[in-house]
Amino acid sequence: MSGGPLLDVRGLAAGYGAVRVLRSFDLVADAGTVVGLLGPNGAGKTTLMLTLAGLLPRLRGEVLVGGRLLPSGRPAAANRAGIVLVPDDRSLFSTLSVRDNLAVASRRGGHTLDEVLDLFPALASRLDLPAGALSGGEQQMLAVGRALVQKPRVLLIDEMSMGLAPVVVEGLLPVVRRIADETGAVVVLVEQHVQLALEVSDRAVVLVHGDVVRSGPAAELAADRGALEAAYLGAGKASALS
Ligand SMILES: Nc1ncnc2c1ncn2[C@@H]1O[C@H](COP(=O)(O)OP(=O)(O)OP(=O)(O)O)[C@@H](O)[C@H]1O
Ligand SMILES: [Mg+2]
Repeated sequence: MSGGPLLDVRGLAAGYGAVRVLRSFDLVADAGTVVGLLGPNGAGKTTLMLTLAGLLPRLRGEVLVGGRLLPSGRPAAANRAGIVLVPDDRSLFSTLSVRDNLAVASRRGGHTLDEVLDLFPALASRLDLPAGALSGGEQQMLAVGRALVQKPRVLLIDEMSMGLAPVVVEGLLPVVRRIADETGAVVVLVEQHVQLALEVSDRAVVLVHGDVVRSGPAAELAADRGALEAAYLGAGKASALS
């Protein structure tokens, strides 16, 4: 094992064919770190997640997990290296039960069913329901549970709160913190509720039009609402900060 960072992203360029979204993105994160990835719609957050997960090829740059270079555009290799994505559509098998959604994803060494239920007790009484019958918040719990049974070293959560009320998000985000603390995973968290995200993040990165316009300790960014609002205002999203 190298003593270096668990996740090391260097000079990453990403996009879609001729459409370049990220030009040169860098991120270094040690085990157990939660990185809040913030920014307005179209900033490139999902593009970054998909590229880290190998679902989009890199146009340039390197991604290392535990010091090992990942091949570009190879989702199975990224997953084997420990990168697990919770996509913004949650990608559950809606006709399969909660139990089976977890079973088909599980990997030796990942969280067990009991450990998932310990983190998300609300799922315990839902195990035999089809995933499609769950509430939005329960589906998000299941989506994160499905990631945990895959033994993530780098957990990418895109839009934790898609379609969820803030009160539900407030319940889910501390679990993200616990996952990083207890498993040592790096968590990269995309979250619309900026202040809530900053509360559970160690560091935050603000992307605008594919460029990092601000990064630093989450507490510093949380205290500097003016700078955050300015970044979002460019895209007319200051209201997301409330
Ligand atoms: N399949 C695609 N083909 C071409 N361009 C795309 C494609 N998907 C996204 N884009 C463009 O890439 C840019 C970044 O999009 P991305 O989805 O990464 O943003 P985002 O930060 O996740 O936004 P949101 O907060 O709305 O989810 C946008 O300009 C978008 O239009
Ligand atoms: Mg997105």
